[in-house]
Amino acid sequence: MTALRIAVANQKGGTGKTTLTVNLAAGFLLRGKTLVLDADPQGSAGHWAWVGGADSGLPPIERVDAAAVRTRIKQAAGANRYVLIDCPPHLESDVLGQVMGAVDLLLIPVQPSPLDLWASVDMTAAVLEARAGNPQLRAYMVLNQLDERNALSRSMHEALGVFEVPALTNGLVRRAAFRNAAIEGNSVYGLGKRGARAAQDVEAIIEEVLSL
Ligand SMILES: Nc1ncnc2c1ncn2[C@@H]1O[C@H](COP(=O)(O)OP(=O)(O)OP(=O)(O)O)[C@@H](O)[C@H]1O
Ligand SMILES: [Mg+2]
Repeated sequence: MTALRIAVANQKGGTGKTTLTVNLAAGFLLRGKTLVLDADPQGSAGHWAWVGGADSGLPPIERVDAAAVRTRIKQAAGANRYVLIDCPPHLESDVLGQVMGAVDLLLIPVQPSPLDLWASVDMTAAVLEARAGNPQLRAYMVLNQLDERNALSRSMHEALGVFEVPALTNGLVRRAAFRNAAIEGNSVYGLGKRGARAAQDVEAIIEEVLSL
């Protein structure tokens, strides 16, 4: 078995890395054996799972430090169908370099405002650098906290167009369910009816990722 290895990263804080990682992982778990590696020393993903306890319906979430992350991704890929890695919000440490050298796909959550996008420019440079060692690395931005009522503005599409890293067609809408899932230590799938629309957002991203 060789897993699809997906890293979720952005050097900017608070863009939704952990939210996207945990909820994607819950959706992938419905399709096959899934492991989350928490490479962020903040340990948010690990804390999320701890709140939920054993019967949360989340996949296992395992803390891993920078020195071990590459080896652990390799091992995990042999024993799982999907491996997701939640990364810390900075480029300084070597974690991101290590992770980007060992995954198939990098997802970069960004908020749909040009200012937030421009703050992600360094990520684009990091992707190009990582491709020197891992030419197969695919990378996509994922729009997060989309406003349900407003389609993306034309200026936003234009802003996205100048990046060498394209954006997925599907993103996450800003929904209370994403916050509630974290509060309850669960995924939006585990919220039942309360999380149904949020789970549809996540499903659309998974289906798009699987069709890349
Ligand atoms: N689509 C969404 N709808 C509503 N709230 C969201 C959504 N995505 C993220 N949030 C909220 O935004 C905050 C930041 O999200 P999250 O912790 O996932 O970001 P992060 O990129 O992992 O942060 P850090 O850089 O600190 O690791 C959290 O309170 C989270 O619940
Ligand atoms: Mg986080």
